[in-house]
This record gives sequence, C-alpha cells and structure tokens, in this order.
Amino acid sequence: METGRPEDAYGQIQYRGLIAWPERLRREAPLLARVLAASPVKAILDLGCGTGEHTRFLQSLGYGATGVDASEAQIRAAREADAGSDGAKSRYVHGDLAAIGDLVPAGYGGAICLGNTLPHLTDLDALQRCFCGLASRLVPGAPFLLQLLNYDRILDRGERTFPLAIRPGEAEGEEIIFLRLMTPQADGALVFTPATLRYRPGQEPPLELISAQNVALRGWRRAELEGPLRAAGFEVREAFGTMTGDPWIPGASNLVLWVVRA
Ligand SMILES: C[S@@+](CC[C@H](N)C(=O)[O-])C[C@H]1O[C@@H](n2cnc3c(N)ncnc32)[C@H](O)[C@@H]1O
Repeated sequence: METGRPEDAYGQIQYRGLIAWPERLRREAPLLARVLAASPVKAILDLGCGTGEHTRFLQSLGYGATGVDASEAQIRAAREADAGSDGAKSRYVHGDLAAIGDLVPAGYGGAICLGNTLPHLTDLDALQRCFCGLASRLVPGAPFLLQLLNYDRILDRGERTFPLAIRPGEAEGEEIIFLRLMTPQADGALVFTPATLRYRPGQEPPLELISAQNVALRGWRRAELEGPLRAAGFEVREAFGTMTGDPWIPGASNLVLWVVRA
C-alpha cells in the first residue's frame, strides 16, 4: 500500500483547525509545568511541533522554544502564526527527528514530543537515532515528555478507529468531520488513514471527501520504547495514561512517558 510522506500528509490535513487548541493547552498545562519545572536550562525542544501551538505556549511561559518538524507546510504555518503573535518569537527548524542530533545545537534543558508524533518513526533504527540524537542535545537532568496513543491497548484489542472529531464548517450549517482509520500490517506497522469530510445537510450526496491519505506509522508499545530510551541515556521517571497525569494502565487512552537525561 502506498503511504504518504509526512510533509505531504500533514500539508494536506487542516490540522490546526481540527484541534480545539485553547482547551487542549489548558488541559495539558499542569503536567507540562510539572515536568518542565525541573529543566536545568530554560530552552525546550518541541519535537514534531506541527503548527507550533505547544512551541508558542512554552515561549509564552518564558522558555526559549524551538519547534522541529519534517513538514515544510507545518513549519511555514508555525512561522506565520508566530509572526502574527505578540511577544518573544519561537524558533522553527525543518527536518527529520531521526536526524535531530544534526539539526539543533547542544545545550537544551528539556524536550517534548506530543500528539502521537513518535509513531511516524517507523523503524527501530530511526527511533534509536532520534533518542540518541536528542540525548546529545540535552544537558544532564533535562526532562523529556513523550506522548503517544497507547498502542498496547489499541493492538491488543484490535481497535481500528478513533472517535470522530466534528467542527463547524465555513458555510452556514456545514460541518467538517475528521475520520481516522488504522489498518495493522503483517510486519507490525500500521497504515493510518486520516480523512477530512464536509457534511452539507440537505445536499446530495451530503458528505464530500476533502482529503484522505495513507501515513505509515509504527504503534510502539511501552516496553518497545523504554529499552531504547534507557540505551540512549534516559532514566524513566514516570508513566502516565493521559496528559492530565492519570497513571498508565494497559487500557489507558495514551502512553505518556516522563524521562530524564541521565
Ligand atoms: C500528529 S502531528 C502532532 C503535532 C503536535 N506535536 C501535536 O501535539 O499536536 C505529527 C507531526 O509530526 C511531524 N512528523 C512526522 N514525521 C516526522 C519526522 N520523521 N520528523 C519530524 N517531524 C515529523 C508531522 O509533520 C506532524 O506535524
């Protein structure tokens, strides 16, 4: 099956409009503050920053924030949003997380990688290069907060979809529907198919496909991440099941790892 490159896939998805960002940032802020409070240097990397909402949020809290993303379209949107905002500016770097060790200078005091970004690294070699490269960019004691879907639950239960996200459209009565399908492959990979549909009540057909693509993912389980993190020089501090700090259990919605550069 053909899969889209990250830059193509995320260039097409109206990602920024599909997430209720103020609510999400409010929900996530306490855990981010708790973890990043221990940062020895107030400079944070946002890995897979997308359109830079977390990057700008951290910058607004007084950190020097650098967002890194493989999608040129996402980085462009992040820079545009930054240019239109008040206050200190974040920095954005275009590139692959597997090469993070070559993309930014050393000396960062912490890092985040949120919103199911890590599964875009689909093989162990890329994952190890990402963790080792990141460890080389962080000072000792730097925290790293990693959030992805809980693939222990998804794979064990054979889950194929997520709840639909529905947002108001531009025209009167229109709604934009974000549908996400996952198709496990025999080799352990997952094909993720995000699709955006327009619902036009009263018209035939009432649903119009705006975009759909295949993205290759790897549903990393907790045990598959903790070994490479330790091998790269991180200590696992705590595992949560949500971004509001609930403990991780096999049926949790998310896997959120708080690790620290030894
Ligand atoms: C689901 S979005 C998450 C964005 C944001 N961190 C959040 O929490 O909402 C995943 C992001 O990872 C980026 N990405 C995918 N593969 C990547 C890679 N190998 N290197 C850097 N960024 C990548 C995509 O372009 C996309 O912006």
